Order: sequence, then C-alpha cells, then structure tokens
Amino acid sequence: MTPSDDRLADYRTIVITGASSGIGAALARRLGGPGRTIALIARDAARLEAVRAAGDAAGAACTAAAIDVRDRTRLADFLDGFDRAHGIDLLIVNAGILDGRHAEQATEDGDTARRVIDINLTAAIDTVHAVLPAMQRRRRGAIVLVSSLAGFVPLADAPAYSAAKAGMVSYALALRDGVEGDGVRVVVACPGFVATPMAALHLGPRPGEISADEAAMRILDGLRRNRAVIGFPTAAFWWSRINLLVPEFLRRRGAARTRFHVASDPTAAPSAHDAGR
Ligand SMILES: NC(=O)c1ccc[n+]([C@@H]2O[C@H](COP(=O)([O-])OP(=O)(O)OC[C@H]3O[C@@H](n4cnc5c(N)ncnc54)[C@H](OP(=O)(O)O)[C@@H]3O)[C@@H](O)[C@H]2O)c1
Repeated sequence: MTPSDDRLADYRTIVITGASSGIGAALARRLGGPGRTIALIARDAARLEAVRAAGDAAGAACTAAAIDVRDRTRLADFLDGFDRAHGIDLLIVNAGILDGRHAEQATEDGDTARRVIDINLTAAIDTVHAVLPAMQRRRRGAIVLVSSLAGFVPLADAPAYSAAKAGMVSYALALRDGVEGDGVRVVVACPGFVATPMAALHLGPRPGEISADEAAMRILDGLRRNRAVIGFPTAAFWWSRINLLVPEFLRRRGAARTRFHVASDPTAAPSAHDAGR
C-alpha cells in the first residue's frame, strides 16, 4: 500500500540525492521534522553537513553520505544498508548537473555530453534500482524522479541535458505503469527555471523563475496528489508539452527564444550559489 493521497506524513524514511544544494536542500528542509529519518546524498561533504545539521535541528534524524551517484557500487551499498536499517519509503532522485555549450563553442563537446548523461540519466536509473526491489517486496513506497521542462523542450545549447531529461520522463512513466501493481508510486517532476546554483550557470533568459522552496512545495504537492507528471509553472508546462506536437517551423521559432550558454567555469558563477540553497 502506498500512503493515501493526503498522507505525505506517512513517508517517514526518506532518501534525497542532490541534497547539498538547491531543490534537494529545499526538499530536505520541507521534509525535515520529528519522526522523519532522512539520508542526504551528494558529493560536497561540507555543504551536505550544513543541510544535515539543519534537518537534525528541525527534529529529523538525518544522515549525510558524501557519494558521487556515478559510483554505482558505493551508492548501492549505502542505500542497501540504510534500507535494511530503516526501510526506505520515499526516494527522491534529484542529483543532476547542467552543462552544454560554453560561450566559445558552437555546440557542446562529447565529454560534456557523456558526463551529463552519466549523472543525469544513467546514475538516476542506478539509484532507482538500488531501492526498488526492497519497495516491491514490502509492497510500499514512492519514487520521485526530478527531470525538467527541458524533457519536453529540446535545447540547442544543451542537447545531452535535454536528452537525459526526456529519457527520465519516459523512464519514469514506463516504470510507473510497470510497478503500479506492486504498491510502488512513481512520479516525475518537471520544473521550469528555479533559482539555484545550477540556474546561475545558465547564461541566458530564465523566464518565470521560482525559488527552490516553491519548487520543493510543488513537487511534494504533486506527489501527494499522485500526479504522474508534476510540471510547473503551469503555463510553461503546458506550452512545453504542446511544443513537441506543433509543426516543426513553429517549434523552432519558439526554440530560438530559449538560446543560452553555460558558464565555462562553474566556480566563476557564484552569484546564485548561495541564493538557492
Ligand atoms: N534549477 C533549475 O532551473 C532546474 C530546472 C529543472 C530541473 N532541475 C533539476 O533539478 C535537480 C536539482 O538541481 P538544482 O537546480 O537544485 O541544482 P543544484 O543546486 O546545482 O543542485 C544539484 C545537486 O545535485 C548534486 N550532484 C550533482 N552531481 C552529482 C553527483 N555526480 N553525485 C552526487 N550528487 C551530485 C549536487 O551536489 P554536489 O555538487 O555536492 O555533488 C547538488 O546537491 C537537477 O536534477 C536539475 O536538473 C533544475
């Protein structure tokens, strides 16, 4: 049995990947509270520790695990141990990077494309598989995959990011249908622009940008309502979905307004690095 629609509180043991910053840290803040046991995963131990300490202060029992989600064995070992100890009932697969075309490039390079797919898609699927069998055995649990509106809007300046996020939407919807009968709920979140350190790397217009806290609120509300696709802001979501159905010349006209480049040196784009945390 998955918790009933209005009982987010029934999710007591939670794992969040990409919890050291942005949307993941905001989800940790919203979910942190008495009676909750939360595992926080990301690479940066110092930033993770700050989120862990805040969660503990809010009354949750938080564990920080500094793991690169591409390290499949370490990730699976950690999740297996955490699940044996506590029984995971909510997994939020949120870790991700934005990379693509830098200012001096005509398009993104092959190494960038591979890294983006490895982290944003392959590692996300590995994370699911490290937890799903235990949820299926218990016939209880929920999985949130954090994709993007880019999953519906191919971005000329970030082809691999677009592909990874589109792949994640397809993966999540396929998985949802496949495991529904096992008592496991799967939803996919598709945010538009969210003011986080990642967004600060996107050097171009970011219309309709919302805060990380509002994004976390929208994601949890969608999970509570068991929405298969949790897309926001609402107007941008529907435009994005229709975008793939309109004649190609119209899609391209819209796409021309989404051009950007990615900051070449992530450490040199600190403007929002503290803002979205
Ligand atoms: N911000 C937006 O406008 C936006 C829009 C749509 C979708 N999203 C999606 O939302 C998710 C969260 O992004 P955000 O905006 O919150 O960005 P963020 O603030 O940069 O957070 C990304 C998180 O992912 C973690 N991460 C990245 N690579 C990792 C790896 N290899 N192993 C483990 N953790 C890793 C980062 O931690 P470490 O660096 O410490 O590892 C960080 O905690 C991403 O999947 C992103 O694609 C964001």
